[in-house]
Amino acid sequence: MIEYENLARLNQPFFAEYKKSFAATLDSGWYILGKNVEKFENEFAGFCGAKYCIGVASGLDALILSLAAFEFEKGDEVIVPSNTYIATILAILQNGLKPVLVEPDIKTYNINPNKIAEKITNKTCAIIVVHLYGKCCEMAPIMDLCRKNNLKLIEDSAQAHGAKYRGKMAGTFGDFGAFSFYPTKNLGALGDAGAIVTDHEKLVEKIKTLRNYGSKVKYYNELIGYNSRLDEVQAGFLSIKLSKLFAINEHKNKLAKIYFENLKSDFIKPVRHPDYFDVFHIFNIRHPQRNLLKQFLLDHGIKTEIHYPLSPNKQKAMAEILSNQPCPISEEIHATTLSLPISYFHTKEDVERVCEVMNRF
Ligand SMILES: Cc1ncc(COP(=O)(O)O)c(C=O)c1O
Repeated sequence: MIEYENLARLNQPFFAEYKKSFAATLDSGWYILGKNVEKFENEFAGFCGAKYCIGVASGLDALILSLAAFEFEKGDEVIVPSNTYIATILAILQNGLKPVLVEPDIKTYNINPNKIAEKITNKTCAIIVVHLYGKCCEMAPIMDLCRKNNLKLIEDSAQAHGAKYRGKMAGTFGDFGAFSFYPTKNLGALGDAGAIVTDHEKLVEKIKTLRNYGSKVKYYNELIGYNSRLDEVQAGFLSIKLSKLFAINEHKNKLAKIYFENLKSDFIKPVRHPDYFDVFHIFNIRHPQRNLLKQFLLDHGIKTEIHYPLSPNKQKAMAEILSNQPCPISEEIHATTLSLPISYFHTKEDVERVCEVMNRF
């Protein structure tokens, strides 16, 4: 069986270092927001090329706190891609703001910059882009739109640790880059964790206060805050994993190359362009008979996933919020997309086998 993902196998090469780190944290007696968190925040800011990093409890919280830092008016509009994981939309709703969906480019699967301007109104306060599957969005025209219309820019970089556009890292184009370290991510912890990177010195202090019950001094609360603190155990693991991230991304690139070179042209493969360094959090193809293909692969011992089976505007939870925003392009992607095995533990032979079986479909 070729698994789609297996977190024990993915992390196995790091077990010895994780165990040492865990033992040291256990002995330290200090478990939340401490030296490990500060060390990781500095390292991750450095990795991204950002001035600051704030560790938080999850990727969703990184998005929620990024929006909360600006204190927009309730009901203000946030432009967001229709083709994203539900977290991006939830962060907008949980700030009392209105998500305005923009369809993706059918080739890149990311927000189509040419479709943003028509959705900007006098209530628009921000754009959240999502660097989906490990490919950056086309940032130049999006940054232009933000400048011209005085909009804040947040990058949901949950799937794009180390991805680049024109040599610059995902998460560093806008006001805030929001990252998830959910265990399956390229930079995954062993539990929930997230971070915000930014160059906004003044807002760093505010987000640090917000993540800690709105408190700078224990038991004195100056803001309506949240509990979204990164813990010392995860931060210790993340420092170790960060030191391997280049190797992880390189391995995924090598596996992706095998897919690109070997899969027959019946499958629509991701686009590649010299402006982009992709990190293949997900390697997806599209095919009109996706469900039959998925079953065929399973019958041959190959597990796959679908990212995502249902677009946010079709989710039951969003029935009264997004159902008036039709998204035919997202829906087409969701009906045809299939994510192939591309984890750190997969070998060249695994991927060659997937290609060989797929080419017989
Ligand atoms: C695009 C995107 N945004 C946000 C999130 C939320 O991250 P988390 O699960 O850490 O809250 C995820 C991952 O789950 C994601 O894939």
